[in-house]
Amino acid sequence: MSTEIANTDPEGIDGVRMTWNSWPRTKVEASKCVIPIAASISPIHQHPLIITNPYAPLRCKTCTAVLNPFCRVDFSALIWICPFCFQRNHFPQHYSGISETNVPAELYPQYTTIEYAISNHDVHHTLPPPVYVFVLDTCMIEEELGFAKLALQQALEFLPENALVGFVSFGTQVQVHELGYSDMSKVYVFRGSKEMTKDQVLDQLGLGGGFAGGRRVGGGPGGLGQGFQKGAVQGGGLLNSGVTRFLLPASDGAYVIHSLLEELGTDQWPVAPGNRSLRCTGVAMSVAAGLLGACLPGTGARIVALVGGPCTEGPGSIVSKDLSDPVRSHKDLDKDAAPYFRKAVQFYEELSKQMVNQGHVLDLFASALDQVGVAEMKVVIERTGGLVVLAESFGHSVFKDSFKRVFEKGEESLGLAHNGTLEINCSKDIKIQGIIGPCTSLDKKGPAVASTIIGQGNTTAWKLCGLDKDTCLTVFFDISSSDKDPSGNVNPQLYIQTVTSYQSADGQSKLRVSTITRRWVESAVVSEELIQGFDQETAAVVMARLASYKMEIEDTFDATRWLDRNLIRLCSKFGDYRKDDPSSFSLNPSFSLFPQFMFNLRRSQFVQSLPQPALLDVASISADRILYWTLILAFAQLLQTPHDDAEMIIRDRFPVPRLVVCDQHGSQILIGQVEPSATYNNEVAAGMDVIFTDDVNLSSVLRASTKAGGTIILTQRLTLGVKSVA
Ligand SMILES: *[C@@H]1O[C@H](CO)[C@@H](O)[C@H](O)[C@H]1NC(C)=O
Ligand SMILES: *[C@@H]1O[C@H](CO)[C@@H](O)[C@H](O)[C@H]1NC(C)=O
Ligand SMILES: *[C@@H]1O[C@H](CO)[C@@H](O)[C@H](O)[C@H]1NC(C)=O
Ligand SMILES: *[C@@H]1O[C@H](CO)[C@@H](O)[C@H](O)[C@H]1NC(C)=O
Ligand SMILES: *[C@@H]1O[C@H](CO)[C@@H](O)[C@H](O)[C@H]1NC(C)=O
Ligand SMILES: [Zn+2]
Repeated sequence: MSTEIANTDPEGIDGVRMTWNSWPRTKVEASKCVIPIAASISPIHQHPLIITNPYAPLRCKTCTAVLNPFCRVDFSALIWICPFCFQRNHFPQHYSGISETNVPAELYPQYTTIEYAISNHDVHHTLPPPVYVFVLDTCMIEEELGFAKLALQQALEFLPENALVGFVSFGTQVQVHELGYSDMSKVYVFRGSKEMTKDQVLDQLGLGGGFAGGRRVGGGPGGLGQGFQKGAVQGGGLLNSGVTRFLLPASDGAYVIHSLLEELGTDQWPVAPGNRSLRCTGVAMSVAAGLLGACLPGTGARIVALVGGPCTEGPGSIVSKDLSDPVRSHKDLDKDAAPYFRKAVQFYEELSKQMVNQGHVLDLFASALDQVGVAEMKVVIERTGGLVVLAESFGHSVFKDSFKRVFEKGEESLGLAHNGTLEINCSKDIKIQGIIGPCTSLDKKGPAVASTIIGQGNTTAWKLCGLDKDTCLTVFFDISSSDKDPSGNVNPQLYIQTVTSYQSADGQSKLRVSTITRRWVESAVVSEELIQGFDQETAAVVMARLASYKMEIEDTFDATRWLDRNLIRLCSKFGDYRKDDPSSFSLNPSFSLFPQFMFNLRRSQFVQSLPQPALLDVASISADRILYWTLILAFAQLLQTPHDDAEMIIRDRFPVPRLVVCDQHGSQILIGQVEPSATYNNEVAAGMDVIFTDDVNLSSVLRASTKAGGTIILTQRLTLGVKSVA
């Protein structure tokens, strides 16, 4: 591959980038690298070279790894040797025609990533339809509800005709609308104040009995098989009455929901003066999840929730009904003074287990000036791979444009895929610590499971209920061989294979296999090879994700100190300098941008303590989304070029960012973003070209932070050293 291509296509056909592209052999050497050995993987990213084999993959009989270009093949004996476990496997009968000149696609050196189409057509040759249950909050002012209804109506028009749609509205109570009930509307009402088991939900909907536990055991009283005429066909599975009663093909359902929406008003439950609306978001979500679990378990489906305020009624409540009690803030959480928090999180954790079991996704579109409780609900969204968009109004373009992009077809479509499972296999001596990203451990044990855990760990398989071409996971690796136990393995290459099965946007079942190889570095000292293999962009992403993960799970974690400390360790390990001669310091070009990346991150408002409670919801969303939350461009002059660039960036981003156009001196927003708030000062803000000026520079950050850490000698070298590259 030429350098030019490598630069414009750094993810390559595999969609994988690693912090280190040459790996140290031992655990001790790995820990000295400071930046963890990790990979950013995009399991179903798009690439023009990816082809689809119309047959099932061959697997190693010992370790189940899939046949790939790194296998050694003996064409005369029709044997392939697995690079993971060195097992010799015989090719089956239908491969008997292969030879050096007639090689199956999966052995071509360029197809290190390849897809297999697995036939999942039922007898009627229909693919499973996309399924959406819309859940609409009605505790809103008339105007907001109007915006939300309009967005829903537009979404319905975008859906393919065979998509199945359901509709649930809620306020103080939950209403499940039976769409398939002809002539008049039929509604099932659930009290919002009481937590219900899944079986109670199903009993009340008339879906109980045979569906207990959410397993497809048979049809309900409504008559098995009716769905076939309606086109409500589930991939390879049984149909049930729930589908025909509560989920309609978009061709019919859109009309029914349209007329329902026309009549739907704001919640009529009385709200006493000085009280919040009684909003039972938790019960609404669990009723919708129960409905989908009874109708279509194991098939891609999404609950799309539009929520306009905090849950105050029943399970999942985040604040009292009394308006004089403020919604919890970061400070309250730190001091454990948020009385509703733990219970709500626990409720949503249970819901996330249920939804992951069912293979279903929760998407949240929240709109309110105050908070809606994303910090509590986040576990379901993240574990199921859902989308989350926060805006201050359903009339705001951030909501409207993002919502539209979920449903529209064509180039700008998100191409949402479903029901994914990711498995990872590695060469001996490589262990997987876990994954940070939108997935859930499937608790599958294997030789590659590491004892230390990061994110979703203690497994070699993960569920991805919702995924798309931009879904990106960070996998953390560990090396298991020790210095005392030099590995008997003399192969200079290491191998990692990811196998992702999923239901594509058009309903097809696919299996994607990527086999990745990298080199081991032998030497115990810092070698040129190790340094050349450092990918600073990936390292910056990995450190950002790790920092935000640690902020969440470690009570006393100080992100700023941690980032500073790691940056200093990195510079002292990989910088070149003569002892006590600061002017001699230099960093290899492989590291040239990394200090700047880290510096910007440690100054970010998401890493700094968050004084305004309004940031809490935003900050609780995983790092890959928040870093691009607001896209700010400064224009000294309003030229067309930067406008076009901005449009291009916006087209590619989800949630659709807000574009703030501002001039050099006019915008508080710009100053707020560019200046670190801790040292904000009017003198700086007033007179200068803020975009090019950092009032806290890298060297002073390092100086200050290392003073706090108490390593003065180290500081002196580094302060001056980094200055020369900054
Ligand atoms: C590869 O993965 C499979 C399934 O997770 C597991 O059974 C097998 O032991 C793994 N092999 C290696 C070499 O890790
Ligand atoms: C969904 O994924 C599960 C594995 O997690 C699999 O057993 C099931 O067959 C998949 N469903 C479809 C419709 O492909
Ligand atoms: C108003 O809030 C108070 C305090 O939480 C509560 O006791 C009362 O029942 C609420 N009134 C209504 C009508 O919900
Ligand atoms: C890993 O999972 C097993 C059971 O599946 C459990 O016994 C063990 O404690 C887990 N390890 C960690 C470190 O959580
Ligand atoms: C960094 O900031 C300090 C004080 O804030 C200043 O003295 C120093 O000159 C700055 N260094 C650079 C390289 O701008
Ligand atoms: Zn094998």
